[in-house]
Amino acid sequence: MVTEAATRTHPLDPLSADEIVRASTIISGRFGSPDSLRFLLVAALEPPKGAANPPRCAEAVCIDIDAGLTTEVIVDLDAGMVTSVTERPGVQPPALFEEYERAEATIRTDVGWRSAMRGRGLSDDQIDLSFIHLWPTGNFGSTWETEHRILKGIVYLRDEPDDNAYGRPVEGLIAIVDLAEDRVLEVIDEPSPLPPTSSLRFDHDHGGPHREDLRPLDIVQPEGTSFSLEGHLLRWQKWQMRVSLHPREGLVLHQIGYEDNGQLRPICYRASLAEMVVPYGDASVGHYFKNAFDSGECGIGRLVNSLELGCDCLGEIVYLDGVVTDERGGARTIENAICIHEEDAGLLWKHTYRHPDQRGTQSWLRRSRRLVISTIATVDNYDYGFYWYFYQDGSWEHEVKATGIVQTMAIEDDDPQVTRHKIGSRLAGVHHQHFLSFRLDMEVDGPENTVYEIDTVPLPLGPENPYHNTFTALATPIADESSSGREVNSSAARHWRIANDGVSNPIGEPPAYVLMPGATVSMMADERSMIAQRAAFARKQLWVTSYDPMQRYPAGDYPAQSEPGLGLPEWIDAKRPLQQADVVLWYTVGMNHLVRPEDWPVMPVQRASFSLKPWGFFDRNPGLDVPPPDHCEPDAEHGQDRHAHHSHNSHS
Ligand code: CO
Repeated sequence: MVTEAATRTHPLDPLSADEIVRASTIISGRFGSPDSLRFLLVAALEPPKGAANPPRCAEAVCIDIDAGLTTEVIVDLDAGMVTSVTERPGVQPPALFEEYERAEATIRTDVGWRSAMRGRGLSDDQIDLSFIHLWPTGNFGSTWETEHRILKGIVYLRDEPDDNAYGRPVEGLIAIVDLAEDRVLEVIDEPSPLPPTSSLRFDHDHGGPHREDLRPLDIVQPEGTSFSLEGHLLRWQKWQMRVSLHPREGLVLHQIGYEDNGQLRPICYRASLAEMVVPYGDASVGHYFKNAFDSGECGIGRLVNSLELGCDCLGEIVYLDGVVTDERGGARTIENAICIHEEDAGLLWKHTYRHPDQRGTQSWLRRSRRLVISTIATVDNYDYGFYWYFYQDGSWEHEVKATGIVQTMAIEDDDPQVTRHKIGSRLAGVHHQHFLSFRLDMEVDGPENTVYEIDTVPLPLGPENPYHNTFTALATPIADESSSGREVNSSAARHWRIANDGVSNPIGEPPAYVLMPGATVSMMADERSMIAQRAAFARKQLWVTSYDPMQRYPAGDYPAQSEPGLGLPEWIDAKRPLQQADVVLWYTVGMNHLVRPEDWPVMPVQRASFSLKPWGFFDRNPGLDVPPPDHCEPDAEHGQDRHAHHSHNSHS
């Protein structure tokens, strides 16, 4: 593995630790180095597509915590100077870690809150041992939401500091805290069911006795991996891409391409998680406001875990570190932030011939191997794994794995369970959904593509369909942004084809990739709800826009306490044409979560995915040249040559 320091910086590389410090030093100097300046984000500003020798630039989001002012700054690192300063009064960037800490201390020492806790019969010791979970509040039109920078603190009881607090919610007691003024604005204290008396734990000594019938399962690659990583450039089989960590979006892939007959064919310029929202479906005072935008309100990238070999990832692993800013402008390295490895993925293809001359059967098959690039981010109670998979048949896929601890609620034993489900004695999990918006800046065989909606439909009955059996595929181009906002339709096997109509494949058709939805769900919140309007992306599965480097976040740049209608709804109003254009796809993955008892006290991984498959991008199965596994192909004496490259290491 070649270290980052040993390779030249590529324009799409993330900022190094040195560059982060240099950028924040230049910015701080420009403002006279005030003690109140904080850095929420310092990241590489991507150069315009195709720019020759672009200057190395950084973008920063700064907060002056005294003035309560957010400023966006661009620094030219080559010239060593600030090139742009934009004040953003009124927006609410994600809370700083320092603000979370101060908010908790503010609540804990607030006389009104402590008195409400005592009113619940809790002793000072219990109050001091309680756990405060700070939530973004959303925006329901109150002055506090539109004019203050606030979080809501909800509280749970613990028997000891490392207890699983979520088992014992103090229901209906919420402190609203102003982050700029460091004071509690209001304590909401509604009569509510009592907290459960104990919590289920899942940490050491609480899951046992452990089952004893597991034998070792080792994953061994005696000759090492089949991929190479030079700086951020990852090559595997015929695939290549650039891999990095963005402080807001997390894992980002750039310039995904496929080497075909010695030529690198572009497929996708940039792929990332652009936004997320998790709307809860309960109207009670402690839950109605829960609509976390885990990416835009929290910053998935700054929350990724340091992964551990043999634990998070198994086998022959290569890790990439991530570097983000700390809030004073220093660099914070997240070691082993990105995991890269190969996995056996079952069967790639197979056919068994049954011979009429009684010689028996002959099977031809190949095993599938996939390249996995992943991160795991912890956003308070939830943990999200993000996995990109690349396969030898030219397809690629994203899988989200949600795990961690569900949001809980204290209930009476006879709760009617309308908007929540019982998961323990006096404890419920609240119905909710997870929506993840993936931004796919496609470039199939070039920057100009057209997106077609493909529906499979029966043909009309009549003389053209005498046996009433015929069906066809209808391809409708998404002509401009006004027809953006498409929904899945499983009865039509609906999917979307991203084609380059300016190019012909060897059989005379435009090469394309198809976006295949996985299992998903629609948003249950009514379209008039604040969350449906603030997270409009989540109401449809596919949006297509014409590339604009400023349009990166589908619910707006600052979704915390945001107004309705920001992001995608604004952009598509421009009705820009989309045929043979630089199209950007925004695909929403939806996960429905009716909480089960088995999701408690820690939930087994829940998966959701989508995939991209070549459609006429190749002129045959691109996995024909994968060598067969040893001893798995008929001998030459049976009339068939063994594969020319039949050996252990022919895949290198
Ligand atoms: Co969930």
